[in-house]
Amino acid sequence: MTGYKNLIIIYYSGTGNARRTSEWIATRAKEQGLNTFVLPFYKYLKDPPAVSDGKTLVGFCSATHGFNMPHHFLKLIFRFKAFPKSDVFIVNTRAGLKLSKLFIPGLSGLAQILPAAMLRLKGYHVVAMQPVDLPSNWISLHPGLKSTVVNSMVNHYKEKVDHFAELLLSGKRSYFPALISLPADILIMPIGLGYYFGGRFILAKSFYATDLCNDCMLCIKACPNNALVLKDNRPYWKMTCESCMHCMNFCPQRAIETNHNWFLPLLFVVGLFVNPWIAAMAMMGLEAHIPAMLFLGKWIVMILQLVITLLLFGSTYYLVHYLMHFTFFKKVMRYTSITRAGFWRRYRIPA
Ligand SMILES: Cc1cc2nc3c(=O)[nH]c(=O)nc-3n(C[C@H](O)[C@H](O)[C@H](O)COP(=O)(O)O)c2cc1C
Repeated sequence: MTGYKNLIIIYYSGTGNARRTSEWIATRAKEQGLNTFVLPFYKYLKDPPAVSDGKTLVGFCSATHGFNMPHHFLKLIFRFKAFPKSDVFIVNTRAGLKLSKLFIPGLSGLAQILPAAMLRLKGYHVVAMQPVDLPSNWISLHPGLKSTVVNSMVNHYKEKVDHFAELLLSGKRSYFPALISLPADILIMPIGLGYYFGGRFILAKSFYATDLCNDCMLCIKACPNNALVLKDNRPYWKMTCESCMHCMNFCPQRAIETNHNWFLPLLFVVGLFVNPWIAAMAMMGLEAHIPAMLFLGKWIVMILQLVITLLLFGSTYYLVHYLMHFTFFKKVMRYTSITRAGFWRRYRIPA
């Protein structure tokens, strides 16, 4: 017997996969008589639950973003100091796919190892690590999956989560499902770091509201990161957007699109600019003038490239936002946007 009296699960979820996974685990815990709390991270930060005495198990359950956990969730884990030395577990929901009868898993990268290391260093006991491959919600990248595929994946992974919850609540340690992909996770870690320091800010500038937007403000109110504001009567995505996909998938008017027709050419231009030849030439220039740069030059060039890239995306995004006041531009954007097509679909976990 584990002797757990309380279970607290803190989650980060854009389209419901991590929330539902947390609820599945909580249901098992309730059946076993535990005091159970399931909270999104922003509610936990405002109003952490007061638990009665007894042993507490704390779960951190989050979507995976760019082979890592989202920044806001990592920040919470970094600062977490409640229930010292208690048992904790980590669940990350990933982008699963299904091809014919084959369930294809996503990739965690840093999303398990980093939070586990942070919590261990703080003195917590990481008793379980579990990835869950629910349907991918990355609608700015690919069309949403068909509902038959979604339903079949959700049923399949619910069983796996139930099994995981049984193990967890019976006190068995479980790391294997997270660690089996460790070699691949280590290989893609550099991409995870690139996404964390650059990619996520760029993606934040890929959304826009079409003329179907009726200013209902739902996207602004429901954003888990408070990353949307109303600017000139239109939703405007700030750099703090984590691309959790809540807004795009939940908009009742289907008015939120990804700006591929603007975004991709811009990415191409930026790609030219950050290409390794130009970087190497810039470095040679730096070293020739300032010998001390021999050591730091590469990093300085990289940081400069990143800053210029972000400025470029930020300013062109503002320009698109401004041009959307003009009917002609609005029409061009609307009729050239691929995410507007019916087949592109939207995703949220079925009720
Ligand atoms: C911006 C973004 C980045 C993502 N990166 C990854 C990733 O690196 N690996 C992965 O397996 N899934 C990735 N996904 C897919 C989501 O993690 C996955 O669909 C998750 O289950 C969504 O959970 P949620 O519904 O709770 O938000 C990404 C999704 C988005 C929107």
